[in-house]
Amino acid sequence: MNRKEFLKMTAGLAGGVAGLPLMRKLANAATAEPGLPGAVGAVEASAAASRAGSAPFENLLAQASAAGDEEYFWKLIRGQFLLDPGWIYLNFGGLGACPLPVLNSLVEWNQAEERAPSAGYDDKRWWEVKEKLARALGKTCRKEDIGLIGGATEGVNVIVNGLPLKKGDEVITTTHEHVAVHSALLNRMQRDGIVIRLFEPDIVSGLGNVDRIARLLTPRTRLIFISHVTCTTGQRFPATEIAALARSRNIWFALDGAQAPVCVPFDIVETGADFYTCSTHKWMMGPKRTGFIYVRQGMLDTLRPQTVGGGSSERYDAAKGEFVLQPTAKRYESGTQNDALFYALGAACDFVETIGVDRISRHNRPLAERFYHGLGEIPGVERLSPEEEAYRTPMIGFRMKAHTYTEINEHLAKDKIRVRPVAEGGLNSIRVSFHINNHDGDVTAILDSLKRLAG
Ligand SMILES: Cc1ncc(COP(=O)(O)O)c(C=O)c1O
Repeated sequence: MNRKEFLKMTAGLAGGVAGLPLMRKLANAATAEPGLPGAVGAVEASAAASRAGSAPFENLLAQASAAGDEEYFWKLIRGQFLLDPGWIYLNFGGLGACPLPVLNSLVEWNQAEERAPSAGYDDKRWWEVKEKLARALGKTCRKEDIGLIGGATEGVNVIVNGLPLKKGDEVITTTHEHVAVHSALLNRMQRDGIVIRLFEPDIVSGLGNVDRIARLLTPRTRLIFISHVTCTTGQRFPATEIAALARSRNIWFALDGAQAPVCVPFDIVETGADFYTCSTHKWMMGPKRTGFIYVRQGMLDTLRPQTVGGGSSERYDAAKGEFVLQPTAKRYESGTQNDALFYALGAACDFVETIGVDRISRHNRPLAERFYHGLGEIPGVERLSPEEEAYRTPMIGFRMKAHTYTEINEHLAKDKIRVRPVAEGGLNSIRVSFHINNHDGDVTAILDSLKRLAG
């Protein structure tokens, strides 16, 4: 069933989803876009006219692109969020916001589900979502290698608990990992006696991180599990080089990618990771409580699912003692699913694809770079993101000599600027994320605010 057919079907059921109050509110928000300063180019008049005639959002974007009107293009994109206009939101690395097409999809599918509850989900549609996700993750990523789960915390636990680690086996990770990774490893340490080996990320040399890992290797090392992009300072690790090192020593390599897809352009297969997980509610702008796990081809039987149930097996027979897991990463999915969440994740993939990950990066990186260099001119600021531009991302970390991270956070909040305080690794710092909801004025606002704080 395509979208048109779906809408026709739901209209037939109960007067149409477009008549719902929330849908109307969302539709209004999409069109009641506040004006931004500056000329928006020739395309604006025709866009306004088209909007009145409810031209699809994609057409407006295409018109803005064809007219070469970048400013209007990004203004249209910003108009797709319900974010409170009184605040500057610089924390997609924490919690992303869903754009309207994703929210609409979520409402539509939830309504459809409540009108005609279905036992089990539509397998074909489920695969379509994975196909879209696979496309967003690179040229050769296969849908069969992706399992849809609740988020990175769940994925990290699937990986740490699913690998056949024994007492004394060593795992290398960083001091900058999210609580999800450290907790899962510590839990396995207490339960099974694995040993955690930590290294401090090298922010001077990106490749220096490969050396730091190499120095921790011993004959007992079984797993390297690090972030693809850290949640602390937005540091991107040289995944391919680390994967090569791991492969050469017959060690598993897992990436916590909660902060990577859409934040940075990359190809998941080319990272060389055996296992990869992500929360898709952040940079990918999907609904909360959605995520995925990717398992490199050929590695499925190494990573035994610890939670199984309806959907995880191809067939089972308790009387015969037969249990055959799914031959794909679907084996990590189990039980009743909230399928509306994942269908709306498909809408998020469409939204990202309509703009393009490279274009998103060309928008976000200059904002973050201007911020990074601006920080360098504020007395008493210590920048924590990598010194080499190639390892920086649209997330920048910093702290101030004269102020605690709580003071900085409170000061910015008074100026209605939302960032993320960072306690991980004892950094006591601030992280600032720039995404497609932001513009140059936001960079100016946060730099001005920090200058005032610095006195
Ligand atoms: C690097 C990293 N890993 C894991 C997580 C956990 O994500 P979730 O709480 O969505 O499971 C986060 C969340 O911020 C993160 O930044």
